[in-house]
Amino acid sequence: MTKSWTPTSWQSKPIIQVPTYPDAKELEATEKLLSAYPPLVFAGEARSLKASLGRVAEGNAFLLQGGDCAESFAEFHPDNIRDTFRVLLQMAVVLTFGAACPVVKVGRMAGQFAKPRSSDTETIDGVTLPSYRGDMINGSGFTEAERVPDPARLVQAYNQSASTLNLLRAFAQGGYADLHKMHQWTLSFVEDSPETARYKDLADRLEEALAFMAACGLTAATAPQIRETEFYTSHEALLLNYEVAMTRVDSIRGEYYDTSAHLLWIGDRTRQPDGAHVEFLRGVHNPIGMKVGPTMDPDELIRLLDILNPENEAGRMTLISRMGAGKVGDHLPALIRKVEAEGRSVVWSCDPMHGNTVKSSTGYKTRPVDLVLEEVRDFFAVHRAEGTHAGGVHFEMTGQNVTECVGGAAHAVTEETLGDRYHTHCDPRLNAEQSLELAFLISESLKDERDHLKAAKAS
Ligand code: PEP
Ligand code: CO
Repeated sequence: MTKSWTPTSWQSKPIIQVPTYPDAKELEATEKLLSAYPPLVFAGEARSLKASLGRVAEGNAFLLQGGDCAESFAEFHPDNIRDTFRVLLQMAVVLTFGAACPVVKVGRMAGQFAKPRSSDTETIDGVTLPSYRGDMINGSGFTEAERVPDPARLVQAYNQSASTLNLLRAFAQGGYADLHKMHQWTLSFVEDSPETARYKDLADRLEEALAFMAACGLTAATAPQIRETEFYTSHEALLLNYEVAMTRVDSIRGEYYDTSAHLLWIGDRTRQPDGAHVEFLRGVHNPIGMKVGPTMDPDELIRLLDILNPENEAGRMTLISRMGAGKVGDHLPALIRKVEAEGRSVVWSCDPMHGNTVKSSTGYKTRPVDLVLEEVRDFFAVHRAEGTHAGGVHFEMTGQNVTECVGGAAHAVTEETLGDRYHTHCDPRLNAEQSLELAFLISESLKDERDHLKAAKAS
């Protein structure tokens, strides 16, 4: 028998990655304030996402999940939201039209403000301070004052999430995402790259297809999917007091939903079966993600699925594999086999970022694009060998023309040019051009997967 769940039952479990606030009373008052604020998302939307992810789990769609490693208060600007959104749209069109595969679009946006850290402290030139834990907790500046956790940041994160989501909803449904605008989504700085040429060619073909459909009577007026898109939000559910404050009972079903985002995921550092993060997430009815790194054991994975998805509901669980290039073949097959043998319904997604972080000779934390692409290729190859669906990708990107990840087919970022526009507050992100390169690779891989399955069926 599992113990009964409440929004605060996690408080009796071991917890890691928690900040220590100097003023408990102020924190409590802030939590109370937030718990009376409007929900950011509705339970019905979380259920639609779960249904869509159920289709991914069955092999009939693909999950595209991306955005900042950490959103920041300093980078909060409508242009940044728009640029990230349009790169995700471009990638989605490459997959939907290029690979004829429906795409479920989920941003690491509108709430991705808390970061797990490998160390509680940071030392620079002999000075040791508490680590930066994301803008919703403390400041990134290396001063004692900035590093003190401040409850007021929770409210600022909520407000920024609310206005980000407001703009995303407007973009998704207000005409910006109209497929006829596909040419206009091209960002000026990717004008002369091979990816852009490929993208423009695809846009030309899509335009022809749309004209053909219009001639058959299928226009935006009769098929709103041409004009609108569904776009969901997600973040790591790390700061549980914030997540609890955003958790509400859905008036239609009487079930708990964490209304801070449509999908919440558990990080690789906080997925202990007996830990607080797993305990909290098992009780909310949103779709849930879980990072799966090289230390995950197949039996432990089943134990976690028992806890998080006891009914084996399709679309509830997305497993985000983040092994590192060259290691996917060592770890992923045993996990897939176990999940298959136990008949569990999951979405398998690939995070090719977090296992591929290195330090450049010039001192920057970076990720070689080659390794990112290699991990995605390996992920598809393993699924092909196992006969399972490579269901999605989860990656860190921005629409800004940053130089954070080395490599890329066009305008390759080098170790020497990393410093030109290295803006991230946390991990290095793919820029727009590198993201499009990734989208074309996935599109080819999805086409291969489909051809392979067709051939297997025919024989
Ligand atoms: C992240 O997604 O930003 C992250 C910290 O990932 P992981 O938990 O896989 O290390
Ligand atoms: Co990250």
